[in-house]
Formats: sequence, structure tokens, C-alpha cells
Amino acid sequence: MSEISRLSIDNNNLSNTGIGEGGVSDQEIVALSSQLDPLRQQIKEWMHSSKTSFLNLPNQTNIKAIKKRGQAIAGQFSKTVVFGIGGSSLGGEMLVRTLGDINPKNEVTFYDNVDPSTMVSLENVNWNETLLLVVSKSGNTAEVLSQFLTTLPIMEHELGYKKAAEHTLIITENKEGALYRLSQELSIEVIEHPAIGGRFSVLSVVGLLPAYIGGVDIAGVMEGARAMAARCSEDDILKNPAFYNGAAQYLHAERNRTISVVMPYADNLRFVVNWFRQLWAESLGKIDSEGNHKGLTPTEAHGVTDQHSQLQLLLEGPDDKLVTFITDPGFRFRGRRVPLRFKSIPAVSPLAGHTIGELFMSELKATRTTLSRRGRPNRTLALLERDAYALGELIILLEMETVVVAQLMGINPFDQPAVEESKVLTREYLGELQSIGDLI
Ligand code: PA5
Repeated sequence: MSEISRLSIDNNNLSNTGIGEGGVSDQEIVALSSQLDPLRQQIKEWMHSSKTSFLNLPNQTNIKAIKKRGQAIAGQFSKTVVFGIGGSSLGGEMLVRTLGDINPKNEVTFYDNVDPSTMVSLENVNWNETLLLVVSKSGNTAEVLSQFLTTLPIMEHELGYKKAAEHTLIITENKEGALYRLSQELSIEVIEHPAIGGRFSVLSVVGLLPAYIGGVDIAGVMEGARAMAARCSEDDILKNPAFYNGAAQYLHAERNRTISVVMPYADNLRFVVNWFRQLWAESLGKIDSEGNHKGLTPTEAHGVTDQHSQLQLLLEGPDDKLVTFITDPGFRFRGRRVPLRFKSIPAVSPLAGHTIGELFMSELKATRTTLSRRGRPNRTLALLERDAYALGELIILLEMETVVVAQLMGINPFDQPAVEESKVLTREYLGELQSIGDLI
């Protein structure tokens, strides 16, 4: 039996009851139902076979082993540096930055770029007390290999060869890949990356190991994820939250609302947006079998800050967007109270006596209402503050919605065929490189 949801999903403002004729009706949603039949079948296979699938990761991932490994790491090291890019880092970073300890025993830092001015900070890491976790499913990703191979000499210089290898852990799948080969040459321990694409791998060792080291309640995340996976396996399009929300977003996209604005009202939820952007963009930006360019463009705005930056556009700009608010209503009870003593000043008067959290939540409500009044579709996903269970629910919901939209668009959400071209070109350009001027 699944627990009661701790993620509130308010999608009324996607519908015609919430925003009038620009919204979608239940009849339109139901009319899409049969297009999801192949997915219904697929979900049953995912849930009932032993083959690894993102939806069944909450049941398949060996939490005990991850905890055991994480405890050993946290006991031995005070810092963890993670090298990875895209799906190999965004999920773990989301979990750590959203739910991790504020004063962690082991501080986890993610490097997901090869900007030399950022990488220079690796020269100052105290490698004696640091673990290096290198994550790459393919084991051939240029950025991750370069991060690792340029940092290894620093570690070896400080620790010696043997200890540098002991302070390194690799997560990879491909036994033919360069990373695996390096692990064998250097005697570095390898954890197997599950057979699942990076952007759907957060609920495996890829996201959960750094998360656990960073103090996240990973069992709670998985419990919530399991409960949402059960809800998202429901056949009825109006009852299955991913079916309904995916179908509604698809219908709005058909009405030209192809820009998906995610607007967290909670600073620590910003990392959910980073993770979601990759999931949505890389899964849905594809050419379908008839040669049509498909996709929905994810973008972000931050509550309340971007009310003073992007809100005007959201309200009166082109009607080509759908806004998803992500929030934590616990904010209501938080923050200091504005004192009553300056109440006589007109601009202070409405604030006096209220907490900062009350202001925060009132602004969210006002933004939602102003959008809805103009018939601009929006929905609100609210989770309890720093609640692992609720974040687990949210992760599966967003993953499953992505798959639903892909099914309706007639594309495969699990590949990224076009990205390969740029990887090949990068290698070519490096091969031809005579001087840095050639690249500018
Ligand atoms: O979602 C994906 O599959 C990609 O974004 C990958 O995570 C990214 O390209 C990194 O690949 P790898 O883990 O093989 O280094």
C-alpha cells in the first residue's frame, strides 16, 4: 500500500475550469487516451520484469549496498568531488542541493564543466581527506575523461599512485570504454552503472550514492518514488497524474504553448529545474518518423526574483508558454516578522506583522492568479519542505510526464542521436588543432 501523497499537484489552471476557454477539457484529455495504449503495455513490462527501467528503479536499486558504501566513504573522507556531466551529475546534484545536510559531515561538490577557471579550484583540494567519484555511463565522454586525467596527476603528486587510486571510485557501465580501461590500469574500484540512460538514472547508484554521502534520506526518496510509480501505472488517463499532466502539456503545445517555464518558489528547488531541463530538452527535442521537428523548450524563472524580470513577459508576451510552479508551502510559517512599528508608512503597512514566508507565498498566489486571469496555463506542484518522500514523488512524476509527452509526439525519449555529431566534431577539431586561434 502506498502512503498518502506528500506532493500536491494542482493542475486546475491547465484546464478550462481554471483558465477558461484557453484551458484543456477532460474530453480532450480522454480523446488522447488510446494513443497511450502502447505506453500502458510498456509500463506493465517495466514494472513486472527484472530488466532495469527508470520506473522500476525504486524497487530495483540496492539501497542497502549504497548506504553501506556511503557510510564507509563518509567515515573515511570529509569531502567528495564528483566528476560527471549531464545525467551523470544533475540528478545527484539536485538531491544533494535540495535535501542534503546544511552542515554536512562530508561535503559533496559537483564539477560538470571543463571551464579551466572553475577547474583551477581542484588544485587547492586537500586530497588527503577527499574522495574523487568519476561518473560516466559510456566511459568515453571527453569532458569527464579530461576532468579525471588532468586531476589525477594532482592527486598522485599529493598522495602517491597507490593512494590516489584508493581515493578514486568510478561508476561506469561500458567495459569497452576508456574509463573502465583506466580503472583496470590504475587499480581503481568500479561500481556498475545500471543499464539506464543518464537523465533517467537519478534513482540509481548514480544519483543516490553522492546523495547519501551528502546526508540525503535516500530511503525516503525511494519510498516516495515507489508510491508515485504505482500511481503512474494506473490506466485511467484522468486518474494517472503523469498521464493527465503529460496529456495536458501536449495539448497546450498543440496550441502553440511550446515553452515550458519552471518557476520554483524556493531557492533550494532551483536544482530540480536544472535536472528537469535536461530531462525535458534531451528527451523531447527530436525529429519524428515523418521528419517533423518536435520538442518543448524548458526554461526557468525564479520566484519571487523574476517577478521583477520575466513576469511581464509571462503575462503580456506571446501566449506560447506553460508555467509550472514548484514550491514548498512550509515557507508560510518561516522567516522573521516585519515589525509593526513602521505601519504608518503606506508601503510598509500591508507588510507589517507578516512573516517573510507569508510575503513569499502571497506573491506566488498573486502570480498564479494574474496568469490565470489572462488565460495563461499554469500548475503548481507543492512539496513539504526538504521532504525526501515528496521529492521522490516529484522525480518520478516529471520523468513519467516526459515519457507520456514523447509517446503522444511519436518520438523516442530515451535517445539523443543528434548530440553525437558535436562530440565527433570536437574530437576532429582537437585533432587538427595547431593553435588556439583555430578555435576562435
Ligand atoms: O542523459 C544522457 O544520456 C546524457 O545526458 C548523458 O548523461 C551525458 O551525455 C553523459 O554521458 P556519460 O554518462 O556517458 O558520460
